[in-house]
Amino acid sequence: MTAQKTKVSYGSKPSSKQIRQAFLDFFASKGHQIVASSSLVPHGDPTLLFTNAGMNQFKDVFLGFDKRAYTRATSSQKCVRAGGKHNDLENVGYTARHHTFFEMLGNFSFGDYFKRDAIQFAWELLTEVYALPKERLMVTVYAEDDEAYDIWNKEVGVPADKIVRIGDNKGARYASDNFWMMGDTGPCGPCTEIFYDHGDHIPGGPPGSPDEDGDRFIEIWNNVFMQFNRDEAGVMHPLPKPSVDTGMGLERISAVLQGVHANYEIDLFQALIKAAARETHTADLDSPSLKVLADHIRACSFLIADGVIPGNEGRGYVLRRIIRRAIRHGYKLGCRAAFFHKLVPDLVAEMGEAYSELASNQTRVADTLKQEEDRFFETIENGMQILEAELATKPVVFNGDLAFKLHDTFGFPLDLTADICRERGVAVDTAGFDAAMARQKEQARAAGKFKMALNLEYEGAATTFHGYEKLETAAKVLALYRDGSPVNTLSEGDLGVVVLDDTPFYAESGGQIGDSGELKSANGIFAVEDTQKIQAAVFGHHGVLKTGSLSVGDALTARVDLLARASTMRNHSATHLMHKALREVLGAHVQQKGSLVDTEKTRFDFVHNAPMTDAEIAQVEALVNAEVLANQATQARVMDIESAQKTGAMMLFGEKYGDEVRVLDIGSSRELCGGTHVSRTGDIGLFKITAESGVAAGVRRVEATTGTGALAYIGETEKNLQAIAAAVKATPAEAAERVTQLVDASRSLEKELARLKSKLASAQGDELLNQAQDVHGVKVLAATLEGADANTLRETMDKLKDKLKSAVIVLASVADGKVSLAAGVTADLIAKVKAGELVNHVAGQVGGKGGGKPDMAMAGGTDASKLPQALTGVAEWVGQKLN
Ligand code: ALA
Repeated sequence: MTAQKTKVSYGSKPSSKQIRQAFLDFFASKGHQIVASSSLVPHGDPTLLFTNAGMNQFKDVFLGFDKRAYTRATSSQKCVRAGGKHNDLENVGYTARHHTFFEMLGNFSFGDYFKRDAIQFAWELLTEVYALPKERLMVTVYAEDDEAYDIWNKEVGVPADKIVRIGDNKGARYASDNFWMMGDTGPCGPCTEIFYDHGDHIPGGPPGSPDEDGDRFIEIWNNVFMQFNRDEAGVMHPLPKPSVDTGMGLERISAVLQGVHANYEIDLFQALIKAAARETHTADLDSPSLKVLADHIRACSFLIADGVIPGNEGRGYVLRRIIRRAIRHGYKLGCRAAFFHKLVPDLVAEMGEAYSELASNQTRVADTLKQEEDRFFETIENGMQILEAELATKPVVFNGDLAFKLHDTFGFPLDLTADICRERGVAVDTAGFDAAMARQKEQARAAGKFKMALNLEYEGAATTFHGYEKLETAAKVLALYRDGSPVNTLSEGDLGVVVLDDTPFYAESGGQIGDSGELKSANGIFAVEDTQKIQAAVFGHHGVLKTGSLSVGDALTARVDLLARASTMRNHSATHLMHKALREVLGAHVQQKGSLVDTEKTRFDFVHNAPMTDAEIAQVEALVNAEVLANQATQARVMDIESAQKTGAMMLFGEKYGDEVRVLDIGSSRELCGGTHVSRTGDIGLFKITAESGVAAGVRRVEATTGTGALAYIGETEKNLQAIAAAVKATPAEAAERVTQLVDASRSLEKELARLKSKLASAQGDELLNQAQDVHGVKVLAATLEGADANTLRETMDKLKDKLKSAVIVLASVADGKVSLAAGVTADLIAKVKAGELVNHVAGQVGGKGGGKPDMAMAGGTDASKLPQALTGVAEWVGQKLN
């Protein structure tokens, strides 16, 4: 532990690094545990897009759900405010202190100290450790918070004219600058904010005044007194123990302590701005685009390091938007090819020590950015031309359809178009954009796969699903459909859909296919081929009536195809184990992007931006098979979503979970899942990966199979191997070596063959010498060389030219009905006869053409039957040229 405290003070120009350390040291000296920053991707909290405050990782501690070994903590937390409740993206680059990524210094009390200590700690740190002049500080309190007001005024001694009370100034109860909420739900409470006065040379008024948005008085520290948990209906429930959550932006306090006004002037940003200037070849260091780049490289790199991959939805889309915004600013500065990723080493030099995940992921971060840049640079030029052409017409409002086209065809996110328009003082018709987007979605839906169940009209009782426990139940027919319309009876041979009151059939969802099986009544048998939901809890059994008839109200026995279901369950349970193993082997950035589980396989798409190596595949297989062999019982528990979050179960961001969810424990994996699963991991039997491929930038696909499927796959592979072994007359173990030997041998035979062919051809060439005719004193030879390839033609040509000294030669060969031609002219004659013309004269007659130099040209042809005549004509053609 560092015994030496970091010393910093106002006017001494401490570095950001020292300021960060001094904060943590100060609170450690006050009994606070120093806690590492949590990931930018909030764990198990689907309500939050990105970590946006230091308190996020302590949310459950504030709510009383989670207990820690300490009641006081301090941290420097990575935060991103782009998308979600706190979104600063569009301001970045235009204001002195908005960032997409920033570091929040904070101290936290979990039912330990409250307002008095929080305020006094803050004051001590600012005025004694950081040694800020007291007269430069102002504070605000929530209007009703007399307690906080009195502590500031009477105990700390801040004069009344420097304390501003702020009420519900945002149009609703608790909607106030001095009432902080993490999101629409969660812990919240009144706060007191500390402001720094940058001096009267900068325009702006104190907080609460009409010109408070100026840059003179800057909020540097927010101290929140956590008192309530806000629920979805907006009701405030008092917290078990009042707590403290504070947040001070490292960049803002650094600006103050380094004596600069804008955050971009602090040490940390200056290095990045210089790097951006270097990569974009920009001389003007004040260009706002450089600020944008310096800001965005931080957000993008930290997000990628924490496992976010650019994509088309959710977190991935926010990241893509930030990257594209950065690229566009680079484009504005003249960049026409990937440059942004080159800032990563500079960022690592600045921040890699404080955040080791950045340093250890440096290559992956840079590669991911480069891929994304290469992609966008392909379309940005065309997009910019269209955009500029429209802006040149000086529109008042930028056309929404065109903004959509830019989005859809050229990859311009709406906020990127808006950003450019804003620079020209033009607004964008976002309603028009939304409408165009909705139209396109509707068309895609209409063109999509037609599922009979989707449009069936049904009003009646729901289906009770028994398929977790049973594969057979008694049931009653509630409704029947034929050709999409309700009917009372199905007759033999009819294709239709059956709705039952009770069913063991699993309806397709969560990537798992619907069950197949049989419905058997006293009068008929209906073969179920697929099960799909008609409504959330109404199951449609799709299939054909094999025999007899089936009517609404009939009683029947519903029986799932046991073997098919067993295979599907094995594949589904193995998917969970594989997901876990992939994260272990490849890293925590692996997230599910899509999955399909049927009787034959599991197909799993996930975020990862390099092909898996053979060793990684083998490792994943080994991990999953070890879990299979451990043969643990699996467990499904139904609970409310909040309890489920607390179990640490894997949740998918953006997925809509109901109030009640199933938490599935399979081996060491824990996921939320509504699917059907094996009862012990050993039931999976055997797990085998059969394919690995890429499906989109940064997304890989693995296919695997289990149980009988895996056995069949291995059986097939073995059969193939045996066939190979038999063909090369070796045992399966020796087959690979034998095949390698054979391939080598065949390669050297090919070489030998080529050598012999050439030798043979030149021997033929010698025989041809006598066939040369004399045309006006020039030797003219036109002949066929059997079995010669293009190379041999060329070589023979050279030899013949050597021997005949002054000659015009055409050589031909025929293979598989195709003609190869070579024409050669010795140097003394090329003024009169051109090899290119000659070869084309001949080729033209055999249906082809060619080209080359005056002394040597090659051609091909397709009509070998015309070759003899064409060759015969050569002497005459040469005769004309020589005349
Ligand atoms: N959580 C508080 C904020 O973000 C401190 O302002």
